[in-house]
Amino acid sequence: MKFELQRGLALQSNITTLVLFVTQPKSEGPEIRKAPLSHNLPSELKKVFSELIDEKTLTGVAGEFVFLRNHAVLGFKHILFYSLGMWGGEDHESLRSAGGSLEGVLNSHKISSAAIHLESLGNKISPIFIQALVEGLSLSAYRFEELMSPKKDAPKELKLVLSYHDFTKAHKEALDTAVITSEMVCFSRRLGDLPGNLMTPTILAEETKRASKGSKVIVSVWDKARLSKEKMGGILCVAQGSSEEPKLIKMEYKGGKASQRPLVFVGKGLTFDSGGISIKPSASMEEMKYDMCGGANVIGALLAIAKLKLKVNAIALIPTTENMPGPSAIKPGDVVRARNGKSYEVNNTDAEGRLILSDALCLASELKPRLIVDAATLTGAMVMALGNIYTGFFTKDTELKSQIEKAAKASGEWVWHLPLCDYHTKDMKGTYADLSNMSSSKGAGSATAAAFLEQFVAKGIPWAHFDIAGTGWATGSRLSYTSKKGASGVMIRTFVELAKLYE
Ligand code: BES
Ligand code: MN
Ligand code: ZN
Repeated sequence: MKFELQRGLALQSNITTLVLFVTQPKSEGPEIRKAPLSHNLPSELKKVFSELIDEKTLTGVAGEFVFLRNHAVLGFKHILFYSLGMWGGEDHESLRSAGGSLEGVLNSHKISSAAIHLESLGNKISPIFIQALVEGLSLSAYRFEELMSPKKDAPKELKLVLSYHDFTKAHKEALDTAVITSEMVCFSRRLGDLPGNLMTPTILAEETKRASKGSKVIVSVWDKARLSKEKMGGILCVAQGSSEEPKLIKMEYKGGKASQRPLVFVGKGLTFDSGGISIKPSASMEEMKYDMCGGANVIGALLAIAKLKLKVNAIALIPTTENMPGPSAIKPGDVVRARNGKSYEVNNTDAEGRLILSDALCLASELKPRLIVDAATLTGAMVMALGNIYTGFFTKDTELKSQIEKAAKASGEWVWHLPLCDYHTKDMKGTYADLSNMSSSKGAGSATAAAFLEQFVAKGIPWAHFDIAGTGWATGSRLSYTSKKGASGVMIRTFVELAKLYE
């Protein structure tokens, strides 16, 4: 998808379709707003619009659209009226959502170029609305079709002209931000959508290096020998049952002063989670290719932060392995030591995410960070608790909690703070070792997992854990700009907004 900003609605012979938004401003009641059409649009168009309203073809309900094919006006071939519903000009998610549905409409009508008349939204369009609309359009255009035979009549890349009388530098920046962020979200989605045989720890490391070329991100990868030397007992024990070599991917970006301490992002990169010896039931096991989405999204977030040239220092750490029941696999009851010397009983080999994260969080703590944020498809309990819209997060740091909520409000992603207390920590005590990877109590499976992770974060470092088990990939998505099935790239936008708060 290509975007262009244009002052006013100059005629362009190569653009086929004119898109006009229809809104029902809250302050003016449920009546469709007719005012925007007074903006230097021909009376002929106003007449068509009035007729559509009078005959109730257009009622203004969100998502409703009328496509007038071969209805030449102003040199355009077709006209598309698209209803936003009630919109008072305050919430950006409506525009992201409209962008998503609009892309679907343009695609199903095989439109390859359109001009979006932004004045139809109102006289003053703030940059965040441009960002949201462009994100909705771009995120919705993502398709994962590379493993299918090529389609003969593949549609051409959509070209979109955003027309508005008063574009400023801030609008241009908002467009650039949206394009970069969406590209990175789609990049991460692809990593998630690739199946386990085509997305191994080695491939994940290679793809990270490839994507970082030409950016200011430096990638280094630890192999198995180095992981042993570095005492990364958690990653190694999970990898024992697989023939794929585990890795630890490190990405570094220096956008701030040399002396500035880094923001550290950690992501779970389980390229396939069979459960190991505590093997999972076969129903839906194929979904466990998505168990590396935390890692993929942290990779995407770091690349976005670098490409947006944010003035922060940031590091991403992605422990990556398969969890398989091979002949050398770790057995229930085995005791392992993590990088910080703490020992744990592995009473269930399917609770492996916390094991690979334990070492990565130790390493993150050693980097003297300003904060540590991790993302992981960690627990099935999170899917039960919050479903697939809200991402649950844990932190005991009240300042970080409000920064995260602020960042999520700006990104339009949904987060929910969940409780973590000493009782959860007590549940994770071991019988024969310092800790157990299984809770001794029933319930609160996501909180007890977080309590386990906390044991590997050095005291005093603000830390937040995002359990994206419910939101990392979609199964019948409610969002117009996320595939019905597939990786979502969730939290990348929020992590970018969070990093902005540290500039
Ligand atoms: N990757 C899974 C968590 C998961 C399950 C994510 C379903 C998304 C959907 C994780 O490794 C796991 O298996 N967790 C176990 C932990 C349990 C054994 C304590 C779980 O949640 O069942
Ligand atoms: Mn598991
Ligand atoms: Zn897992």
